[in-house]
Amino acid sequence: MRTTTAVLSLLAATFAAAAPPPKGGVTPDPYEAIHQASYLLASLLDTKQYSRLGEAMTDDIVYDSRPLGAYGGLSNGLAETTKNIAAAFGDALNEHQVGNALIKFNNREATSANVSTYLTWTRWDPANLHDITKTFRIFERCDDLFVVDPKDGRWKLKYSLVVNQGPQVEAPYFPRDWKKQGGDKHDGDKQDGHEDDGDNDGDDKHDGEQGGGCDGEQKDGDKHDNDKHDGGKHDGDKKDDGCDE
Ligand SMILES: *[C@@H]1O[C@H](CO)[C@@H](O)[C@H](O)[C@H]1NC(C)=O
Repeated sequence: MRTTTAVLSLLAATFAAAAPPPKGGVTPDPYEAIHQASYLLASLLDTKQYSRLGEAMTDDIVYDSRPLGAYGGLSNGLAETTKNIAAAFGDALNEHQVGNALIKFNNREATSANVSTYLTWTRWDPANLHDITKTFRIFERCDDLFVVDPKDGRWKLKYSLVVNQGPQVEAPYFPRDWKKQGGDKHDGDKQDGHEDDGDNDGDDKHDGEQGGGCDGEQKDGDKHDNDKHDGGKHDGDKKDDGCDE
């Protein structure tokens, strides 16, 4: 009985010493808190909630993506960074896939950390899917500094240096006649709701079907379609149904 009481009072003292959890929630450990800050930033960017970027970036954020050349730049401070991001994203669809994060705390209080994150940024401009300045994918590494913002106690991005992991910016693959096939996921077509189901219902973006009478053939020069009679304009095949680009 006496032991139980002692343990309980010790536990009570331990909890009293720790920072109180937010109302109705748990406090993640600092590693997970940094992950969550990173994911929040990606989510705010991809949903274009620019007015909320201050929840994931400090007021004095320095965002340096100059190594991306024409696809990047240098921004100083939250206002300028927000403005430049909004301009860079425009009306396009954007997705940030946040992957590996290596976290190294760099002060004794564990309120500041070097974070190297690998992420993939894809920008799709549905009206310009074959213009690599408007539709592209970049495999980035971000060498970041995350800190606990004294303003509100949240982990935030304070500095970021973004580099391209690949040799250059990539063009996501889309069939040239994608628009003609009605494959636009925003066209309101409720036919089946499955984009990847391998059927031939004309909604599919990713099922490998070319549709439109092109019988699965790729373009001239495709080395992976196992079709020796590829409908390319240089192979002498006169019956290619006009599917060449
Ligand atoms: C954090 O990054 C800075 C700047 O690159 C570097 O000088 C420092 O050694 C790093 N600290 C840790 C703990 O990795």
